[in-house]
Amino acid sequence: MRVCVIGTGYVGLVTGACLAYTGHHVICVDNNEEKVKVMKSGRSPIYEPGLSEIMQEASEAGRLEFTTDLEYGVSHGEILFIAVGTPPLPTGESDTRYVEAVARGIGAHLQKGYKVIVNKSTVPIGSGDWVRMIVLDGVTERHQNGGTKDETAKQLGVEFDVVSNPEFLREGSAVYDTFNPDRIVLGSNNPRALKLMEELYQPIIQRKFAEDASLPPVPVVLTDISSAEMIKYAANAFLATKISFINEIANVCDRVGADVVQVSKGMGLDSRIGTKFLQAGIGWGGSCFPKDVSAMVHTADDYGYDAQLLKAAIEVNKRQRQIAIEKLQHELKILKGKTVGLLGLTFKPDTDDMRDAPALNLIEQLNRLGAKVKAYDPIVSQTGIGQGLSGVLVETDPERLADGCDALVLVTDWKQFQSLNYEKMAQLMNHAVMIDGRNFLDREMLQKAGFRYVGIGRS
Ligand code: UDX
Repeated sequence: MRVCVIGTGYVGLVTGACLAYTGHHVICVDNNEEKVKVMKSGRSPIYEPGLSEIMQEASEAGRLEFTTDLEYGVSHGEILFIAVGTPPLPTGESDTRYVEAVARGIGAHLQKGYKVIVNKSTVPIGSGDWVRMIVLDGVTERHQNGGTKDETAKQLGVEFDVVSNPEFLREGSAVYDTFNPDRIVLGSNNPRALKLMEELYQPIIQRKFAEDASLPPVPVVLTDISSAEMIKYAANAFLATKISFINEIANVCDRVGADVVQVSKGMGLDSRIGTKFLQAGIGWGGSCFPKDVSAMVHTADDYGYDAQLLKAAIEVNKRQRQIAIEKLQHELKILKGKTVGLLGLTFKPDTDDMRDAPALNLIEQLNRLGAKVKAYDPIVSQTGIGQGLSGVLVETDPERLADGCDALVLVTDWKQFQSLNYEKMAQLMNHAVMIDGRNFLDREMLQKAGFRYVGIGRS
């Protein structure tokens, strides 16, 4: 099928590249010329395991193109994905101006014929109808004849439906998640649009590119637009709340002398609970959870409902970022003049993303308390993207990080942190203290290496 993806951020680029890889002809549109140039040369502008390889293969097969020309993309695609950002505004609402601009742009270039316009961006609930109106605005700006917008579109032979198709991919495993989804959610008021979308996803639904092709087909949830939009928010809010829940339990464990790692294991084995997203630590960050939970609280508020549970999940998460500082104070007493080393900067492993990363909070708080902060991160240290960070010295290897530190805080659970030369690192430090902010390291191994080990909820 012919597909156009507008916006080449994490979601857009991964979706476009993966759909091209499964056999569709995809044109990705972005208004950032530099970025388009990079992608045309076969390189991925983001760090995402497996993405470059997929991009290269699909491009060489002639099924993946990049352009800044929206008109070219719109006229090519039977299915047009809107995948631009909806960043949070200071109020917690989503900033939908990029979606609006794209929807209007699509409308302006629609010609005679039928198209499906897909909302892939995480938009506020109710945006399906809103996008439809904006697209119609774009259509009618070109051709005003005094009738209603729908009448004008009809006269022009322009026909389209809006579909909500939320994504559930995680940064760092976005390609894997696209080919191995737990479900595909499609929301529209017109079965014709849903049928085309199901056709588009057939190779994925039939698990042609899945790790385990013998599994039954991927479940598809066909629903109305608002329910599809809500599924995305509800899923993210639930997962974020699940993490805040175990973090709250961890804080109680700390006080009563229980080990949250054991508690989490014992709880998670109940199949109704499940072990995933039950790891206590210094809290959730990234581009999705903070934004989506706040947006959900905001929407509920707009409709006269006080979403207390979600507000509490946000509060617990805020407080959780304070916990590493409290533990450092407990170990080192005065932090002024001390040097603290952070293992990891990104909000989670296998990504170069630092949006709303707990590390940024820690740096700010430690600076405020007069401590010197150093950091090592496998990606940030390599790529130099940490140069723009203030208040932290980014070191090039873990041993240089440890040198002269009074404590280390493990902030991101990068796999390679489990096998560093901790013995040597302990010798290079003033005080060999390790605050394991993700309960990720082997306590005994650290203790043998000479560290005083402090986890979260497992004192
Ligand atoms: C999330 C959702 O998982 C995904 O479905 C959605 O589409 C976008 O938001 P992502 O933000 O990439 O994906 O990261 P995820 O792996 O979900 O982790 C989010 C945060 O929670 C990270 O900061 C991570 O460190 C933290 N986390 C996760 C925990 O603290 N404990 C856990 O048990 C799991």
